[in-house]
Amino acid sequence: MRAMTGAGTPRNHFDLIRAGARWGNITVLAFVAACGEHDFEPPDPQLRVDAAHVRYTPALFDTIGWPDDDIRAHSGNEVYATRCRVCHGPLGEGGTQYARVQNLEVPSLVDEGWPLATNIDSVRHRVYVGHAGGMPTWGVAGITPREVDAAAFYVLELLRPEVLGR
Ligand code: HEC
Repeated sequence: MRAMTGAGTPRNHFDLIRAGARWGNITVLAFVAACGEHDFEPPDPQLRVDAAHVRYTPALFDTIGWPDDDIRAHSGNEVYATRCRVCHGPLGEGGTQYARVQNLEVPSLVDEGWPLATNIDSVRHRVYVGHAGGMPTWGVAGITPREVDAAAFYVLELLRPEVLGR
């Protein structure tokens, strides 16, 4: 039998990781504040992306099923609102105030000829591994493959058609 855990005590490994990520963010913020003009650069951002790429496989998404597209899109909307909008903007246009303050060049996800537009696999891959240019490695930064899938679906099937008018 498992021992009871008190309120606020991490229940499992993933809670511990999430708690760690939260404290990590606070540490980063404190560091940025302390450094004034200097940008905080986590060690080896390219290594973080390369390592995630090695762990990535399209099979991560093989077993994910959704009851219907509305639920998938609704779920993606929630993920987008809580995890993506701060940098990518409410309509995926990029270049938010937050991005400027963080000195990040955040591209638009809703341009007409966006190269990733026709391929959900490539969007899920990009979201999972992130980018050394300041895109978090979401595959290890606290969201599940199901949430990665939902966010990618939302960008492709709701955000883009809405912004591009079709
Ligand atoms: C901290 C800011 C930040 C957050 C939060 C963020 N992104 Fe990004 N994202 C970026 C940056 C910066 C880039 C561009 C990286 C580069 O190419 O230099 C990017 C690139 C991308 C790309 C590739 C765009 C292209 O044209 O190659 C996709 C897709 C994307 N983000 C989706 C998402 C999704 C979905 C989320 C939420 C789960 C998210 N991003 C959250 C900063 C962010």
